[in-house]
Amino acid sequence: MSATEFVRIVEVGPRDGLQNEKALVGTADKIALIDKLAATGLGTVEATAFVSPKWVPQMADAAEVYAGVAKREGVRYPVLVPNLQGYERARAVGVAEIAVFGAASEAFSKANINASIAESLERFAPVLEAAKRDGVAVRGYVSTVLGCPYQGAVPVREVVRVAKALHAMGCYEISLGDTIGVGTPRKARAMLDAVAGEVPMAALAVHFHDTYGQAVGNVAACLEAGVRVVDAAVSGTGGCPYAKGASGNVATEDIVYLLDGMGFAHGVDLDVLIATGRWLSSVLGRESMSKVNRAKQ
Ligand code: HMG
Ligand code: MG
Repeated sequence: MSATEFVRIVEVGPRDGLQNEKALVGTADKIALIDKLAATGLGTVEATAFVSPKWVPQMADAAEVYAGVAKREGVRYPVLVPNLQGYERARAVGVAEIAVFGAASEAFSKANINASIAESLERFAPVLEAAKRDGVAVRGYVSTVLGCPYQGAVPVREVVRVAKALHAMGCYEISLGDTIGVGTPRKARAMLDAVAGEVPMAALAVHFHDTYGQAVGNVAACLEAGVRVVDAAVSGTGGCPYAKGASGNVATEDIVYLLDGMGFAHGVDLDVLIATGRWLSSVLGRESMSKVNRAKQ
């Protein structure tokens, strides 16, 4: 590995982090968080989700949040979109990049987006068509790649099938999500390798939750296997409202520390990121889940 190899971090805190907070975070604080994250050197900050407010009330102010963000040059601000209605809401405020989200488990797909896997792919098709027409980039998520809160084990072939389908439909990148954080490094790597047999590694990202404390180890194993895009949330916030027991995403601070240790470039100023994590902890009124943040107190 060359010392200058770059790993792109996709910061998902404002979306994946805040979607599961019990206390509603105010719109102004959400905007401030996104602006602070963009000032750390992060190139991608997932800003919000244009989902049904009945399903996820925490994201009801998606349009106000997106409109309020100071769009920093060189920073991408993707948003989650579950259907055409969400796409139209997002486009009305000028969104330039979206993410659709499916799952490798039927039970989770039903609980999260009220559709079977097949129905979800049918629902995404017109969104991808509209995005192509409008020049909007689309990322695709596959959730429950290493386990499902409802059905338990998830066959790797299902992960490969859904990832391949999303890629074939036009998603430029597929983020593989261990939604409930049950994976361990060898399993994570085996899953990634299996998907990379059908979708180019350069089009894959990994997305780990830290429920069992395995997330940094899983990311390290996947970096060794060749992935170069990693999702993370500042302060280790997060969880999924439709995945009981899912705790926070891997903390961005901890990923930056890992990348430094492994000799990867990432473009993020760790001190500024830590300051942002501390500010968020004060807004949320709770301690940071980032080990690096705590170690540097
Ligand atoms: P549904 O109830 O089947 O949808 O939900 P519907 O089309 O029947 O509509 C029901 C109502 O919602 C209607 O309102 C629609 O207008 C409205 P009513 O007529 O009753 O007043 N509606 C919307 N409103 C605003 N924006 C929209 C929208 N769509 C419908 N886009 C639906 C289906 C997909 C909409 C719903 O299930 C949903 O929004 N789900 C989102 C769940 C979610 O956000 N989960 C968290 C993100 S996924 C995740 O965290 C995992 C990830 O991080 C990766 C990992 O960790 O593995 C990505
Ligand atoms: Mg997630």
